[in-house]
Amino acid sequence: MTKRHLRLGVNIDHVATIRNARGGGHPDPVRAADLAVRAGADGITAQLREDRRHISDDDIAALVETIPAPINLEMAATDEMVAIAVRHRPDAVCIVPERREERTTEGGIDVVASRDRLASVVRVLKQAGIEVTLFIEPASAQIEAASAIEAFAVELHTGAYCNAIAGERERRRNEIAAAAALAERLGLECHAGHGLTYETVGPIAAIPQIVELNIGHFLIGEAIFCGLEASMQRMRAVMDEWRRVAAPALQS
Ligand code: PXP
Repeated sequence: MTKRHLRLGVNIDHVATIRNARGGGHPDPVRAADLAVRAGADGITAQLREDRRHISDDDIAALVETIPAPINLEMAATDEMVAIAVRHRPDAVCIVPERREERTTEGGIDVVASRDRLASVVRVLKQAGIEVTLFIEPASAQIEAASAIEAFAVELHTGAYCNAIAGERERRRNEIAAAAALAERLGLECHAGHGLTYETVGPIAAIPQIVELNIGHFLIGEAIFCGLEASMQRMRAVMDEWRRVAAPALQS
């Protein structure tokens, strides 16, 4: 595999959303994670929200203990979450902003405004052997701040790109491409995610500096119609085809 193989991280939060709608244990997000890994996911992503609306503390423990692939824990930069991460030691932590009233993570974290706090969180997590990613808007000031506090990676928020109407979407995609190039120049690994679908994933997969996409809601939703393995395989095929056409030399 080359350095720039494009990884697919499958976010299983919404398996837990369905489970929690009835209480009990079904459907089990850990079983979904296991299935996703056996179907070719490069990693599993799960967000432990402050209000525990989908993923639970026990889910995180079970994912880290039983899933034979990298676990990426998304979390807010609170003392409680840092302690949980240090206790469970996922392979990676992605720091996201969190507001209780939001339906999903609506924007990137403001690294410039919260620089001191985030620097200390990055330090503690790194000392525990955890790679830290910051989920940010594709803006140069945010990338420079992420580099200054020695994050391992940035994840570029693709929500505005996905929600944009056709003409505007290309401009948003170009912003993401420029941000990815800057991240690489500053020595940061570059990931992207949020709102990606079969329709929107291609132009993002074609950005050569991006090495990981984290995708959840659409894949889990599509799984209702065709199964998780098939929804992942189709997503993987679209990602690979755009990557191959845009950057053949980067293929694994
Ligand atoms: N990346 C991050 C940092 C996120 O917070 C989310 C949503 O939980 C995703 C990726 C996945 O977004 P979606 O579920 O829209 O595919």
